[in-house]
Amino acid sequence: MDQIIVTGNGPLSGDIPIAGAKNACLTLMPATLLTDQPLTLTNAPRLSDIATMTELLRSLGSEVSALHDGQVLALSSHDLTTVRADYDIVRKMRASILVLGPLLARAGEAVVSLPGGCAIGARPVDLHLSALEAMGAELDLRDGYVYAKAPLGGLKGADITFKFASVGATENALMAATLAKGTTILRNAAREPEIVDLADCLRGMGAQIDGDGSPEITIQGVDQLGGATHRVVTDRIELGTYMLAPAICGGEVTCLGGRIDLVAAFCEKLDAAGISVVETDKGLTVSRKGDRVRAVDVITEPFPGFPTDLQAQMMALLCTADGTSVLEEKIFENRFMHAPELVRMGAHIDVHGGHATVTGVERLRGAPVMATDLRASVSLILAGLAAEGETIVSRVYHLDRGYEHVVRKLSGVGARIERVKA
Ligand code: EPZ
Repeated sequence: MDQIIVTGNGPLSGDIPIAGAKNACLTLMPATLLTDQPLTLTNAPRLSDIATMTELLRSLGSEVSALHDGQVLALSSHDLTTVRADYDIVRKMRASILVLGPLLARAGEAVVSLPGGCAIGARPVDLHLSALEAMGAELDLRDGYVYAKAPLGGLKGADITFKFASVGATENALMAATLAKGTTILRNAAREPEIVDLADCLRGMGAQIDGDGSPEITIQGVDQLGGATHRVVTDRIELGTYMLAPAICGGEVTCLGGRIDLVAAFCEKLDAAGISVVETDKGLTVSRKGDRVRAVDVITEPFPGFPTDLQAQMMALLCTADGTSVLEEKIFENRFMHAPELVRMGAHIDVHGGHATVTGVERLRGAPVMATDLRASVSLILAGLAAEGETIVSRVYHLDRGYEHVVRKLSGVGARIERVKA
């Protein structure tokens, strides 16, 4: 398995291009199942999760072509060959559950493996299932699969209130509702930019959707959807991740294509910590005002709150802050696995339940560490950028799920980083 070796190398300087959003692309791709017309996605990221979704859609009979070095995805689901999404693919990536709603809406039935949990939590899908049942679907859970059937006349519009603003459940219900008979209202819906991006794409395909980005989304079902060409929104989590590189190392870096509205809550915390963020027509230019950041407290919440997907990376910054920070993880039950690895690098972190208390130290020391999940892996790389000496990060396959060309992007702004075969 590959390793990434990072050596603290002082302030950074230059531009980092930000790719299209993984978590937008993973819900835009299944939208192809809603129509027999072509769907083209541009600005697509080149990631292993995208390859897994491609494999899954092809297993259902969709045609998926990756053009222009994978930055353009041409999808066509004219003739589906099966409605069964097998465990051997679904187990690789939980977002596979996002084919359930579209398959049910298009084909009237679906057999989808339950995705199971992952390192950060149990990841149930009860909210996905209850929303589809509210639209008239009959669901039977057996042998680790969801056997779903729509009523004879197809799914029906429904008034649905989510007990939690689940991103995936909102996406599944939103896609299913576009072809349901009548009006669907999604209350306490997720408000993430990836939801708005999906709604924009679906409207381009002929769907009638209002209120996306707010807690209440209204969808008027239509008889069929057409094709579209859609540009995947900028990845706000990759953006926030690379904004932390100059914050941790010093210097000045511009994240190309970045917009403050994608990371507003995150930028508020950076400002409180003493990091400057300036929006220009190129993107977001980030620099550290003094020699050391100030400690800040963080609570992760659904958008527009502080993103859980930036919690691990923010912790890496706060390990060398002046003072004590408390991070509260309110979205997932086990998302502090990066903490013991940062402690190996000399960080002072106490984890109790959903809280991590970080007492800043002057400087971390490089050490061999292990990536445990996608965002933890990049948190360790960020910590290594400013640590004294060499940090060796193993199990970097986690990284490949969500970050393209990390070594190239960070080397491009002066980091000492390389990827080696272990
Ligand atoms: C999406 O996951 C993202 N993944 C996650 O990013 C992200 O962390 C998460 O949203 C929150 O923002 C993709 O978009 C592919 P949720 P999702 O449904 O949809 C509970 C990354 O690093 N819940 O909003 O699974 C669940 O257990 C990944 O890129 C239920 O209880 O998130 C969790 O505690 C990690 N029942 C919380 O809600 C359900 O039916 C948030 O889940 C669904 C969710």
